[in-house]
Amino acid sequence: MSQSTLRYAVIGAGGISAVHLNAIATQLGVEVVGISDPAAPAQWRLPEGYGHAPKFSDPAKLLRETRPDLVSICTPNKYHAELAQLAFAHGAHVACEKPMAMTLAEAGAMEAARARAGKHGGINFSYRNLRSFRFARELVARGDLGRLLRVNCVYLQSFLGAPAQPYSWRNDLALAGFGALGDLGVHMLDGVSFITGLDYQRVVGLAQTLIAEKPDAAGHPQRLTTDTNAAWLSELTGGIIATFETSQVAPGYGNFFRIELSGESGTLAVLSDSPDDLWLRAGPTLTRYATWQTDLPKQALPTEFMRGAKPVTPGGIVRAIRGEPEAEYPTFADGLRAQRMLHAIGESMRSQAWATVG
Ligand SMILES: NC(=O)c1ccc[n+]([C@@H]2O[C@H](COP(=O)([O-])OP(=O)(O)OC[C@H]3O[C@@H](n4cnc5c(N)ncnc54)[C@H](O)[C@@H]3O)[C@@H](O)[C@H]2O)c1
Repeated sequence: MSQSTLRYAVIGAGGISAVHLNAIATQLGVEVVGISDPAAPAQWRLPEGYGHAPKFSDPAKLLRETRPDLVSICTPNKYHAELAQLAFAHGAHVACEKPMAMTLAEAGAMEAARARAGKHGGINFSYRNLRSFRFARELVARGDLGRLLRVNCVYLQSFLGAPAQPYSWRNDLALAGFGALGDLGVHMLDGVSFITGLDYQRVVGLAQTLIAEKPDAAGHPQRLTTDTNAAWLSELTGGIIATFETSQVAPGYGNFFRIELSGESGTLAVLSDSPDDLWLRAGPTLTRYATWQTDLPKQALPTEFMRGAKPVTPGGIVRAIRGEPEAEYPTFADGLRAQRMLHAIGESMRSQAWATVG
């Protein structure tokens, strides 16, 4: 296990860059060697303490001059593939934001570049770090729910429907690739396969754009070209039916991400708003009898489990680079799995039929 100082850089200094820098701050022996963003540094949204980090407007110059060991890619989705490949070509490991890429072909090229370079590549599926999601995964893997029977997943927000919320790159298909489907849907796809351990086989889906236009930050009206909401039905390994719904225009919802599963001997639900609780009714005797009273008691996670926090993706990659045995992070292979589903949902929408997840 090597303890030499790791050189770390960030490309894209917007909102999510703070999550990456905060994750890195939990790891000893990592030096921030540079941050790159084409916007004026006054607009960068870094956490406190990074004002003196070397600043670049050109990511290629940052990589050439600072030679980082690990790079976080925190830009709009359009640039993920190009920048990840550039970072691998400069000998760096990569922690990339989700969705991995704009298309399945781009995501495949990213994984191929990672494998050629022999580097770590992680996708920031940040909900994997919620303790409730991790505990749910353990319950399923240990068989506490018995044979899995059904999955339902919803991820609802309201912010995009608010008139005061300006148009942004997220509403431009050419920069984002997807709307709610890519922004929230990938977390749902990854979350369900993370908790169940299952993969997707086929899917039929539908997406809509319920807001035609919005003013941008300068007050000019802009047309939305991305979806504001989507729903899909899919079949998991073993024929299990999983239903999904996402929206960014659902009044009353903040950041409501819920996964519910039933097996032969129990039902379990986790919710992003309550990361240290789960809803569970399980056990062979309890579930042996029919009930007409719906009752999924909310339970606190065991204290001992609460101590086992994992750092989000860039922190996990630092541990993996150092060869720590418990190191773990969502990989490019996980990103590809979600990207295959996004691709198949798009195919199903075009053909108005089931699509196989290839
Ligand atoms: N994992 C999560 O839960 C999560 C949450 C939020 C955002 N994200 C993802 O993070 C990424 C960025 O989102 P955000 O919310 O930080 O957006 P943002 O708009 O707050 O920031 C994006 C930043 O990237 C910069 N940028 C644009 N083009 C660039 C380029 N070519 N090179 C370098 N920088 C460039 C912009 O100037 C801006 O500062 C997206 O892929 C988004 O999907 C993930």
